[in-house]
Amino acid sequence: MESGLSARDRVGVQDFLLLDNYTSEAAFIENLRRRYKENLIYTYIGSVLVSVNPYRELEIYSKQHMERYRGVNFYEISPHIYALADNSYRAVRTERKDQCILISGESGAGKTEASKKVLQYYTTMCPTRNNTQSIRERLLQSTPVLEAFGNAKTLRNDNSSRFGKYMDVQFDYKGAPIGGHILNYLLEKSRVVHQNHGERNFHIFYQLLESGDGALLKRLGLDRTNPQQYHYLVKVRPSLCVCAKSNIVIYSCNIGNCPRVSSISDKNSWKVVSKAFTVIGFNEEEVEELLKVVASVLHLGNTQFGEDEYGETHLTTEMPIKYMIGPLSLEQAVSARDALAKAIYGRTFTWLVQKINQSLAFQVSALKCSSVIGLLDIYGFEVFQNNSFEQFCINYCNEKLQQLFIELTLKSEQEEYEAEGIGWETVEYFNNKIICDLVEEKFKGIIAILDEECLRPGDACDLTFLEKLEDRLGGHAHFVTHKLANGKIRKAVGREEFRLLHYAGEVNYNINGFLDKNNDLLYRNLKEVIMMMIEGFTLLSCGQAATQFKLSLAKLMDILMSKQPSYIRCIKPNDAKQPGRFEEVLVRHQVKYLGLMENLRVRRAGFAYRRSFEAFLQRYKPLCPDTWPNWQGKLSDGVSTLVKHLDYKAEEYKLGRSKIFIRFPKTLFLTEDALELKKPTIGDACLSAVIMIQSWWRGVKGRRRAKRRRQAADTIRNLIKGFILRNEPRCPDNEYFLDHVRFSFLMTIKRNLPKSVLDRTWPRPPPSLTEASVHLHRLCIRNLVNDYCRKIQPEWRNQLEQKVVASGIFRGQKDNYPQSVPRLFVGTRLENEEINLKVRQTLGTDNKYGVVVTKYDRHGFRARPRQLLLMGSGVILVQESKIKQRIDYSSLLGISVSSLSDGFFILHVPPADSKQKGDLVLQCDHVIEAVTKLAVMADKIHSVNISQDSIKFAIARGKEGVIDFTYGAELRVVKTKNGHLAVVRIIQSHTKPINHLDKILSL
Ligand SMILES: Nc1ncnc2c1ncn2[C@@H]1O[C@H](COP(=O)(O)OP(=O)(O)OP(=O)(O)O)[C@@H](O)[C@H]1O
Ligand SMILES: [Mg+2]
Repeated sequence: MESGLSARDRVGVQDFLLLDNYTSEAAFIENLRRRYKENLIYTYIGSVLVSVNPYRELEIYSKQHMERYRGVNFYEISPHIYALADNSYRAVRTERKDQCILISGESGAGKTEASKKVLQYYTTMCPTRNNTQSIRERLLQSTPVLEAFGNAKTLRNDNSSRFGKYMDVQFDYKGAPIGGHILNYLLEKSRVVHQNHGERNFHIFYQLLESGDGALLKRLGLDRTNPQQYHYLVKVRPSLCVCAKSNIVIYSCNIGNCPRVSSISDKNSWKVVSKAFTVIGFNEEEVEELLKVVASVLHLGNTQFGEDEYGETHLTTEMPIKYMIGPLSLEQAVSARDALAKAIYGRTFTWLVQKINQSLAFQVSALKCSSVIGLLDIYGFEVFQNNSFEQFCINYCNEKLQQLFIELTLKSEQEEYEAEGIGWETVEYFNNKIICDLVEEKFKGIIAILDEECLRPGDACDLTFLEKLEDRLGGHAHFVTHKLANGKIRKAVGREEFRLLHYAGEVNYNINGFLDKNNDLLYRNLKEVIMMMIEGFTLLSCGQAATQFKLSLAKLMDILMSKQPSYIRCIKPNDAKQPGRFEEVLVRHQVKYLGLMENLRVRRAGFAYRRSFEAFLQRYKPLCPDTWPNWQGKLSDGVSTLVKHLDYKAEEYKLGRSKIFIRFPKTLFLTEDALELKKPTIGDACLSAVIMIQSWWRGVKGRRRAKRRRQAADTIRNLIKGFILRNEPRCPDNEYFLDHVRFSFLMTIKRNLPKSVLDRTWPRPPPSLTEASVHLHRLCIRNLVNDYCRKIQPEWRNQLEQKVVASGIFRGQKDNYPQSVPRLFVGTRLENEEINLKVRQTLGTDNKYGVVVTKYDRHGFRARPRQLLLMGSGVILVQESKIKQRIDYSSLLGISVSSLSDGFFILHVPPADSKQKGDLVLQCDHVIEAVTKLAVMADKIHSVNISQDSIKFAIARGKEGVIDFTYGAELRVVKTKNGHLAVVRIIQSHTKPINHLDKILSL
């Protein structure tokens, strides 16, 4: 809109809210006219789009145009239907709120074209999923099929929709169209049996006759060469004349004045329709079945009646149809036949819609369906010279839509004021609820009275209905009849009319045909004949058409109420379907009946213009030295500084939480003018460039923001879906969630790794990672230990290594091992000076470890105090200054200990070794330490035997000694009678070491 503000003198205003004289209908129409002349067919009233039919192909619907409007703020570029379509789509994507687009306008104003453009935008611009391509095609192709059966050439429009249509387009959570659903309203069935002069029947009849395959036509009993033979296609005036002699009904038809029965375009459009049938999924038989019904309607139109000698009416036809005899007059027979034709066609149309809906129904799980955009293409107010039951229904529908509009517009306006913290000002508007009630109220409304009249016994007719209306509704402010009115109004309302004062204006309705049309009845016996002929064809009484319409409208209102609405108001500029012709009278009429002035008044009741602080500051910042070139502080302060500098008066504007509200367009225009004046001084080119870059950048930022929001929403949706299916096997619907849980678990571990081996905390793993978690925990502790080892002193490392060896040998094997765990293994237990000098001199400095031991004689088991020294290459037993025995590590066969808590250990040597006097039986208070060190130094870690009860050892010359180990109350070492050495150990309790070293060692 900003760009439009600068160019307002040339092409009016792009938003009617900026019209200075917003109450003037003339100013409104002049603005429309000026823009229309420039081929600017779109103008806003706030968020309502007004569209004027150009009656020519404009170059504004290309893919490039669609791209221009994608993700761009509604007001940033010139008004367009794509801006509105994109706005609704973005709301669906970002806010996940269902939307609806309500398109209204009179016949030929461009409603259907508008709905096609919106659909085209979605099917072109929305992302595609692999399987959604076909649904796009089906969505698009539903239109030609429905148009073939539901549209007709009328005086107002060559392709007039003769039914109301509401279509839901369903989008998945990624914004791809995945399905659709259509509701149809009030098909104009009367067109099947007669059409006004210059109009035609539904397109399908002509398309079939013009282009249907020869063989097909033959099967259907149709003849292309002479279409005029089908009465329903040429019956321009529904008048009957009965030949007095034969009593055969003759149709009055001025063939010369008839509209062309079929046209070149029917040929082309039939191709389109038959292709569309294929895309939608009809097979050949189904299409043929459908065409059979169409043909049967044509044949039905050609049935003739005659009376036999008993006065019975006969029905005859060339088709093999049953004879029917009934007590009807000729006129009744004709009307019964027409009723049947209408019923058949109406039901076929309903069936067709159902079939299309089956094809559009999305097949994926409900989880995938996210949001909906509904498109309502429905007749606008209709006011003709002669208005009947159909106009009554249509105009009632428009009253309901107006109510919806009022409720939703005022509601959203009020919500915006509240969100911005601006006091709500009461808006004066006409609430048309009173008219809706007049029509639909239970027991009291016009529809209720009509139903009552249709059902009551006795001679009910249209006139008695009018009397009843007068009786019950006389005095109502919006209801008048000839009898009730007086003076001028009386003259304007015929004797067979009632007038309703609709919100959009007055309409006179002729009551003729109201009862019949409302009854919509078929003669029972006709129904029975048809039911016998067509299997499964159930024809029930349609009955009470107005009530049905009322109910379906109520349902539609519920659907629309649950959505956020956008409006497209279509205007027809001339009746001649000509481009460039703007007929003011005609347009004024529509502006009035579409309630556009009321729209504008409601919307302008508060503030004419509102824009976010950011957008406002961005545009007008050159006007204030404090805000140019950039404002660094809070946006609201920037706007405040700017408007103060511009000398805005307090009553001219209000600052909300994020937007500025400007009450009068004049204020805004003065600001715009100031900007125009300023341009040369700050360098026009520079300013434009800055503005362009900034608006481009804003566009980029906006798109990025929207993308991020979309992604965020997708992520959340994926997570929720995954959470619901988290216990299912891995599948595309839960893999994101499962991966996310894994990732977060690993990240939690990463951030909270245990600091020491004593730290017992460890996050709880998800079920799928239980095993991995155990491994990770072990690995982590092992790393900690390794780390610890790397850091500590070499002697500590040595210590640890020995402890690890001790653990490997003794853990769980020897009773006194646990007590050894908390005690350090020392370097040596004999200081240098404790070893005799002579020994020291003999051995040199090779001594690695020394400890006091008790040696037991091999025969008498006498105990002798000794020193045990571990040298680089062997073990030495020393008695004071004497080296008593030396065993090289290479000749050490192994070491034995008991499993009890004694300190005995035996060093085994080869029996044949002449240097040795047999195995050494030793006892030491530090048996674990001494044996570990010996095992390490002699490389005999794997040669340490731990025996349960007894240890055998070699005495010189092949003899063998035995030590028996037993538990007892006190420690004893004695030689027994059998020559064994008995070692009795008191029972030790297995106290667990509290030192964490054990834990380390246990890993
Ligand atoms: N945006 C447009 N660009 C070009 N031509 C258009 C446009 N809108 C409408 N028309 C022309 O006007 C004709 C009538 O439009 P359309 O069928 O959409 O009217 P309608 O409002 O749906 O009328 P009805 O109520 O009779 O169905 C179209 O066939 C087309 O020729
Ligand atoms: Mg239409």
